[in-house]
Amino acid sequence: MVVERSSQQGLADVLVASNRGPVSYSVGDDGSLSAKRGGGGLVSGLSAIAADGAGGDGDRDGGGAVWVCAALGKGDREAVRRSGGKLDPADTGGQSVRMLDIPEETFADAYNGIANSVLWFVHHMLYQTPLEPSFDAEFERQWASYERYNAAFADALAEEAAEGATVLVQDYHLTLVPGLLRERRPDLRVGHFSHTPWAPPDYYRMLPDAVARQVLRGILGADRAAFLTRRWARGFADCCAAVLGASVAEDERTGEAVVTCEGRTTRLGVHGLGADGEFLRERAGREDVEERIAILRGEIGSDADDRPRRAIVRVDRTELSKNIVRGLHAYARLLADRPEWRGRVVHLALAYPSRQDLAVYRDYMSEVSRVADEINSTYGTEGWTPVVLFLKDDFARSLAAYRLADVALVNPIRDGMNLVAKEVPVVSDDGCALVLSREAGAHEELGPYAFVVNPYDIGDTARALHEALSMDHGPRAEHTARLASAATATPPTRWFLDQLAALREG
Ligand code: G6P
Repeated sequence: MVVERSSQQGLADVLVASNRGPVSYSVGDDGSLSAKRGGGGLVSGLSAIAADGAGGDGDRDGGGAVWVCAALGKGDREAVRRSGGKLDPADTGGQSVRMLDIPEETFADAYNGIANSVLWFVHHMLYQTPLEPSFDAEFERQWASYERYNAAFADALAEEAAEGATVLVQDYHLTLVPGLLRERRPDLRVGHFSHTPWAPPDYYRMLPDAVARQVLRGILGADRAAFLTRRWARGFADCCAAVLGASVAEDERTGEAVVTCEGRTTRLGVHGLGADGEFLRERAGREDVEERIAILRGEIGSDADDRPRRAIVRVDRTELSKNIVRGLHAYARLLADRPEWRGRVVHLALAYPSRQDLAVYRDYMSEVSRVADEINSTYGTEGWTPVVLFLKDDFARSLAAYRLADVALVNPIRDGMNLVAKEVPVVSDDGCALVLSREAGAHEELGPYAFVVNPYDIGDTARALHEALSMDHGPRAEHTARLASAATATPPTRWFLDQLAALREG
């Protein structure tokens, strides 16, 4: 069996598993399929697999790499049907991608029901606890789907992996995969990476006990469980101790925490994902970004003395944890408390749609628009619109906003890392002051050069906006340079290869 497997053609030595893959498909009116390659930290990080020289070539004996992901919508399902599951490399930038067509209802329960409505809420501490969560029969049904969805990934990985291969499992969608995969293929080196924060034990224990244990045991099925910051790794270790009675020690050689539970040990790694400076600088200099800068400058306009107004910029998915509504309230408070800024500043809020299958996200998006309108009707004048809100995703526009921002507002309630905080200083034209939540993972690296806020405190955030707007050009440029250098310390390729090496070394 062992010999057979490693000599089989097309088996992979490196495997990555994530819910969202590097490409998504849509079906045109004429039935044709078009592929769109995605961006974001996860996608660019995992794309490094190709840079390792291990990617894309599924033909070499056990030498290739494969990315296993789920079909997310109708177009993806059609692509799986037409391709048989292994996508056309022309659509994926050469990567070998296996997309799983998990039954639609199972997928919806696992993705919307459990991953995004329960595990995401727990780790970002988003529940309004007087009424939620309430783990009822519907939850139990959805949990069974989450188990099946995780099992489908474990089956596919077990099929695709060469003997002794290395598997990197991503995120809260796939917490059960490491344990399930170990049962199927004990020969593999398995890592799990959490891109989210990890909840502290008192909050984590809201989950039903059996589920709380199952999730931890699932991840502990990995040889190495990694996190974006020390704080989130500690949260996980604390939950293992509190919920499973696991013991946590420090490895003297590496300094990493080691969790021992039920006879198995799992190392905890910390890998902060950084911005991809080279890519961003090149992309931000292109023509489409220049065009959008001109448009945005038109929106920002000039003050009564004909000086260009200042720009406070935010760029986010319209995500509950990003705290966009409180950000707007803080901006309103700035205008109320510091009338000298009226007519002299514009808040560009780029908030593009996310997880719109969930009512709470749709409502949140409406609330963002409502509060922006309210600010504009309270303070706006003939020639000045205080908040300019963009609700459609446009990467070139995001980069244009990054380049011209005087102040970047990054105030999440809780965030695994937050790459926007790292990307703005890298491409800023003129220097940009950063207002940063202490609850963002990025705070661990960028805190010393930012205006740090408690994200729940409107007055504190308004004061920080004022200070950031008032910062002189010299110190602002110096801070931006320091932010940019801290932000690019671990670019996606390095981030990914470091994890692979650490997992292989064991
Ligand atoms: C976070 C998660 C990712 C996820 C992304 C976008 O960054 O850690 O796993 O892919 O959000 O969310 P979506 O639900 O659109 O994939």
